[in-house]
Amino acid sequence: MRGAADNVDKQSLRGFLHMVETKYPDELLRIKQPVDQRFDMTSIVFELERAGRNPVVVLENVDGFKIPIVTNVAANRKLLATCLGVAPHDLPTAFRERCQKYIPCETVAQAAWNDVVIEGDEVDLTKLPIPLQFSVDGAPYITAGQISARDPVTGVDTTGFHRLMLKGKDRLGVSLHSRRRMYEFHRRAEERGESLPAVITIGTHPLHYMGSMVYAYPPNVRKFEIIGGLFGEPYRLAKTGIADLEVPAGAEIIIEGEILAGVHEPEGPFGEFTGYASYRSTQNVFVAKRIRMRGDAIYQAVTSGMSKDHILVSCVTREGEILNTLRRNLPNVRAVHVPHTTCGAFMAFISMKKTADGEPQMAVMATLGTELYTKYVIVVDDDVDIFDMNDVMWALATRVRAEKDIFFIPGAKGAILDPTSDPETFTVTKMGIDATRPAGRDFAERLMINEKQRDRARDILRSAGVSL
Ligand SMILES: Cc1cc2nc3c(=O)[nH]c(=O)nc-3n(C[C@H](O)[C@H](O)[C@H](O)COP(=O)(O)O)c2cc1C
Repeated sequence: MRGAADNVDKQSLRGFLHMVETKYPDELLRIKQPVDQRFDMTSIVFELERAGRNPVVVLENVDGFKIPIVTNVAANRKLLATCLGVAPHDLPTAFRERCQKYIPCETVAQAAWNDVVIEGDEVDLTKLPIPLQFSVDGAPYITAGQISARDPVTGVDTTGFHRLMLKGKDRLGVSLHSRRRMYEFHRRAEERGESLPAVITIGTHPLHYMGSMVYAYPPNVRKFEIIGGLFGEPYRLAKTGIADLEVPAGAEIIIEGEILAGVHEPEGPFGEFTGYASYRSTQNVFVAKRIRMRGDAIYQAVTSGMSKDHILVSCVTREGEILNTLRRNLPNVRAVHVPHTTCGAFMAFISMKKTADGEPQMAVMATLGTELYTKYVIVVDDDVDIFDMNDVMWALATRVRAEKDIFFIPGAKGAILDPTSDPETFTVTKMGIDATRPAGRDFAERLMINEKQRDRARDILRSAGVSL
């Protein structure tokens, strides 16, 4: 890696790797053995997850490529929390607070990705070690490509991950199915008959990953300013050679080009966060005009499917966004959990200290109005641990009267990639479940063993030779 350790750019991917390697060496796994660009990365990360491990993984020796791959950068709550300087438990709250403190960006003259510039006929994306992840995937996919573009109407830019299918030396299929800023910017450009100038940035700090997933913010704010809020200082950007677009100065690789107007080509299938092969796509096309990269570039990939690398940030950012909404009207909401097992998207659990009947219904409606991906919301009392699936199931089993506590909202906008969404309209049926006890009336008393008695039991067991 370039540069002395103490002048590594803290806002960059390698700044993050340096932090992990020095503070948490057990959380960074360097694999020097040869690996195949086809399937090895994904199977290694899933095997580690099965063993309960989520280290950042560096594949130093990818067969046929000079550039190493780094993956699983965002799979670990402890490391994400460290990036914000908080304990894992405080991550959603810290995220929610910090991403509202926008900080204007700083444009710098020097970019790390200017060492190597490849343009015209020399552009060849097949030289990047783009992994093929699942046997169902239609081609290798760039999965950690942050695409930046400007709103053709207001000029405000955005940045976000969008899957990119390798189709040729300068051609990538792209799906804008989350239908947020990028989808809308492209639609606005297309309405004018114009392609959308865009830059793909590969190799960024996990705080960029997290900030790029924010969706509830004013339209005049740049996502880069939100990411600056997460860093607690201006995000350093540099001008690219296309449409005055700016991207992080410390990134590894950038690809300049455009998303074509009026061109749609088959894209997919791709192993998605739902745990299914996804055949649904907006079928857009990105044409690359120039590649720039560091002389010793590292290629970043997000391990796809239901991996933590793919889903954990979605859980945390959704928890933060939903908390932001709920806290405005319901100060008695205690916590929100969007579990990994429900794809980091489709279910949210809310715990609240209910003061009146009807408050869980308010919480459900506010949550469903915040996030189009979320379709089932379960509200429980604050004695239930929403981070423990068993406790939530117990509350469902013992506190819900189905005829009045479960309600449906059919025909609501859902996620295109949700296999239950209508194949033409992408609408779904949303559901709220009030699993709280009735307010102000007697209800069955929960069995509890108090802390003092638990301590005593643990002492007795220890002295009986039982290790706890
Ligand atoms: C690893 C990863 C891959 C993603 N892939 C896509 C994708 O292929 N298409 C898409 O529309 N959204 C995708 N998303 C979600 C978007 O990145 C997210 O909704 C983002 O906020 C969109 O940014 P935008 O407002 O600039 O469009 C992905 C998210 C993650 C974490």
